Amino acid sequence: MCGIIGFVGREQAAPILLDGLARMEYRGYDSAGIAVRSETAGLQVRKAKGRLQVLDELTHGGADLEGVLGIGHTRWATHGEPNDINAHPHVSENGRIALVHNGIIENYMEIKEHLIKQGVTFVSDTDSEVVAQLLEFHYNECHNMLEAVGRCLRRIEGSYALGIICADYPNALIAARKDSPLILGYGKNGNFIASDVTAVIKYTRDVAYMNDGEIAVITADSIDVFDSELIPVDKDHHQVDWDVSAAEKGGYPHFMFKEIMEQPEAIAKTVSPRLRDGRVVLDDITLTAEYIQAVSRIFIIACGSSYHVGMVSKYNWERLMRRPVEVCLASEFRYSDPLVDEHSLVIVISQSGETLDTMAAMREAKRRGARTLAIVNVVGSSIAREADDVLYTWAGPEIAVATTKAYSTQLVLMDLVGLYLGDLLGAVSPEEYAAIVEGIQALPENMRKVLANVETVQYFAAQYFNHNSIFFIGRNLDYAMGMEGSLKLKEISYIHSEAYASGELKHGTISLIESGTLVVALGTYAALFDKAMSNVVEVKARGAEVLAVTTEEFRERMEKVADGTLVVPAVHPVLQPSLGVVPLQLFAYYVALQRGCDIDKPRNLAKSVTVE
Ligand code: G6P
Repeated sequence: MCGIIGFVGREQAAPILLDGLARMEYRGYDSAGIAVRSETAGLQVRKAKGRLQVLDELTHGGADLEGVLGIGHTRWATHGEPNDINAHPHVSENGRIALVHNGIIENYMEIKEHLIKQGVTFVSDTDSEVVAQLLEFHYNECHNMLEAVGRCLRRIEGSYALGIICADYPNALIAARKDSPLILGYGKNGNFIASDVTAVIKYTRDVAYMNDGEIAVITADSIDVFDSELIPVDKDHHQVDWDVSAAEKGGYPHFMFKEIMEQPEAIAKTVSPRLRDGRVVLDDITLTAEYIQAVSRIFIIACGSSYHVGMVSKYNWERLMRRPVEVCLASEFRYSDPLVDEHSLVIVISQSGETLDTMAAMREAKRRGARTLAIVNVVGSSIAREADDVLYTWAGPEIAVATTKAYSTQLVLMDLVGLYLGDLLGAVSPEEYAAIVEGIQALPENMRKVLANVETVQYFAAQYFNHNSIFFIGRNLDYAMGMEGSLKLKEISYIHSEAYASGELKHGTISLIESGTLVVALGTYAALFDKAMSNVVEVKARGAEVLAVTTEEFRERMEKVADGTLVVPAVHPVLQPSLGVVPLQLFAYYVALQRGCDIDKPRNLAKSVTVE
């Protein structure tokens, strides 16, 4: 995710900005930039795609940019590919206002079109530049920066953390936040803003947290905070008591744990710009009702966890579209002489957008005339560039090899697309459409409830971590979800694990169940709960220990039979796997922790598999 730092004080700003950005490198980024106000040269901006080192060399460690007021940014692309122009800071047309932005401006297109009509020229593809240009527009009206910021914020919709400098204000930095973190740092030789405490901890531990709607004016000696009506607000100060090394992962012990905990926020980012007035809005794709009516076959192609998203989506899409959906492993698809032609729609799912098999499968599908829609996290990646249409998951950078938040955002984005296409086909009733939209909106909150129960999962992981073989069983959506639970466990804990469709047990696998075998039984799919229970009884009768995952509705019945029960809120069945998978991710995490494994970098595995 993007990182912001800003400084105003009695020292040169540029080296401090570069140092702060380096401390946020762990968040992942694809480009970086700084802007410093100089007495002689006005606003000076330097930006560079790639590692921070490039920016560092470009500015000679910051020595080239003289000035005590500045802002810096590490960007993780969302709107517009990673390049020097789309990197922040963004500067308004007259070159007098520069800003850095984290978040997504949802109504940027509308504002951009309005400003273009007024004669404003844009240079980047970003939503963030729109804020810089809008600010200049309002500043020209009122000639007061704080007032201009207030007017601008009243027009933009979406999420933001903003750091703003203006050539006319040599001593002040302005900050604003809504739904994207921003802290204020009170230092000895100057004051700071940052999206992450890590960036400023070397200089100060005295911080205040900005709330949604607040605007701050920061000078070398003071920080004044206002609410959205520009009425002054008193801020409580907090002393940061953790050390720098703990801060590297934002205070979390592992990237995987951090990314699991980030899921509610990541899902909100994926979803909120795509829901308007209770409708799914997919501005980025060009699939029409006529086209989808004419499609004869739908394929989902992916590898690893992305393939498991495809497995869940097959059940959900067939329900929502009443059309057959085929899910293929990319490595198999490309060599299977696939029955794909110009009447096929091929959905390609990939976190990295660089997985070689997935890429090759997509090219094969295109060669045969299919239309492709990619669901990708990394903006500007190869798959995103080559697909006919792309929808980004906007999960932010995922660093742990075992995916969690990318999986969750892929899943919810597939739900949105399924609902959208199902609606175009007239296959979803208005009631079901409304119920799913409502459920998607409530998903972050429900996921937070699941994440509040980490200790229960930790307790069961401590009970079961030394098993050598673990089976995940479930039916329908629970089966597809179990595939991901099983993969997470084997990836990071090295325990042998298999996921089975419960009904298949008695065709072979049940012979492996003996006294003490651990079975993770998934019973969150209400329509088949009774069947799930029969399978739990079946494996219990053969001596298995059972750890179950179910919903509140079935807790009591499950607790009577299972040895341990993890409970998640009951939601619309289409969305249930989004919640059910969370305890499975946490179980894998805590089991691996108990076994002393290298959680973020498991042996033999790579984050992005760019070889066959
Ligand atoms: C690797 C990763 C997995 C991922 C798979 C597919 O195996 O470790 O987490 O699911 O590749 O990657 P993609 O980037 O295409 O989703």
